[in-house]
Amino acid sequence: MKKEPTTLRYIHILGTVVFFSSVSSIVILLALYLNQRLKTSLFLVDDVSSNPLTSHSLPLPPPPPPPHSLPPPLPTPSSFRSSDVTEEEVMGRAVAAPRDTMMNETHPKIAFMFLTRWNLPLSPLWEMFFKGHEGFYSIYVHTSPEFTEEPPASSVFYKKRIPSKTVEWGKSSMMDAEKRLLSHALREPSNARFVLLSETCIPLFNFTTIYTYLTRSTLSFLGSFDDPRRVGRGRYNPKMFPHVSLSDWRKGNQWFEISRRVAAEIVSDRRYYAVFEEHCRAPCYIDEHYLSTLVNKICPEMNSNRTVTWVDWSRGGSHPARKFHVSTLDPLMKLAPYLYGI
Ligand SMILES: *[C@@H]1O[C@H](CO)[C@@H](O)[C@H](O)[C@H]1NC(C)=O
Ligand SMILES: *[C@@H]1O[C@H](CO)[C@@H](O)[C@H](O)[C@H]1NC(C)=O
Ligand SMILES: *[C@@H]1O[C@H](CO)[C@@H](O)[C@H](O)[C@H]1NC(C)=O
Repeated sequence: MKKEPTTLRYIHILGTVVFFSSVSSIVILLALYLNQRLKTSLFLVDDVSSNPLTSHSLPLPPPPPPPHSLPPPLPTPSSFRSSDVTEEEVMGRAVAAPRDTMMNETHPKIAFMFLTRWNLPLSPLWEMFFKGHEGFYSIYVHTSPEFTEEPPASSVFYKKRIPSKTVEWGKSSMMDAEKRLLSHALREPSNARFVLLSETCIPLFNFTTIYTYLTRSTLSFLGSFDDPRRVGRGRYNPKMFPHVSLSDWRKGNQWFEISRRVAAEIVSDRRYYAVFEEHCRAPCYIDEHYLSTLVNKICPEMNSNRTVTWVDWSRGGSHPARKFHVSTLDPLMKLAPYLYGI
């Protein structure tokens, strides 16, 4: 195992500092704190896009094993297809697909699924991240349906938008969007791992490191823990019994990274989803409980129960509709070559 050079470590701290420069008061403490956590996560997300009503501090997941280092994979041409099919067809197809046989093991790809409201403000950073790794990833973008702008044909995000519907944070329309992304991504047999990201996510390692880490892992990274507090067990509705009992009930960060098997399980679940749609209403937030509880119910042995996306919950409280600071893109772009080793 190769040890990360000290300079790189400092660049990680510096990157964090720059990233949070818009929140000056807590930046230093946060950076020092994150320094320990960054190396245990693959992605970092600014919490503006998570549920503003529930930004309570979450217990920290146990640290993951350090990422492996491997030679970069050989780039090959991407084979992304798109066609006009209805939502039901897509969901139906994903459900009908045999779970494991559909996988093309010879050439696993990672499906990067962006759940955004509008455009991707950090797309130049992602372009840099993906560059040279064509054929080893697929991209899917779910936006607000009113958003119809297409990036230039040279962009990795060109024609990657999937048919989308309006999403309300914390409501079941959010889960529908996540299932829509998964269903589309499952249609590509080479997709082995499925990562859900927001428009404010940044990768913390280069493509090779993340690819290797994820494709080598047999477990999924979906946050799932039993929170005894009011914001955890307190949100359980006894009407869910006997389908879901209090001992099944889990909580977790919305941003996940899962295997194909778990993705297929999630897309094909109708039973538990119906229970959640009916009984998980504010102050219960479906995106914080449904997937973590579902996976705990149907395939607990496939989950590591922790996420690889570091979410900054430190600001707490509610801060609706604060826009991501475009000014952070510039410093991030300057740091990217050091961060990603390019
Ligand atoms: C698996 O993917 C490789 C590379 O894209 C392709 O050449 C091969 O035909 C695929 N195999 C199957 C069974 O689809
Ligand atoms: C995750 O939690 C489930 C129970 O909720 C357990 O069965 C499983 O072993 C846990 N995974 C790990 C890696 O500890
Ligand atoms: C990716 O980053 C790792 C360290 O995190 C480094 O060892 C490796 O050389 C980098 N790979 C590329 C292709 O830049």
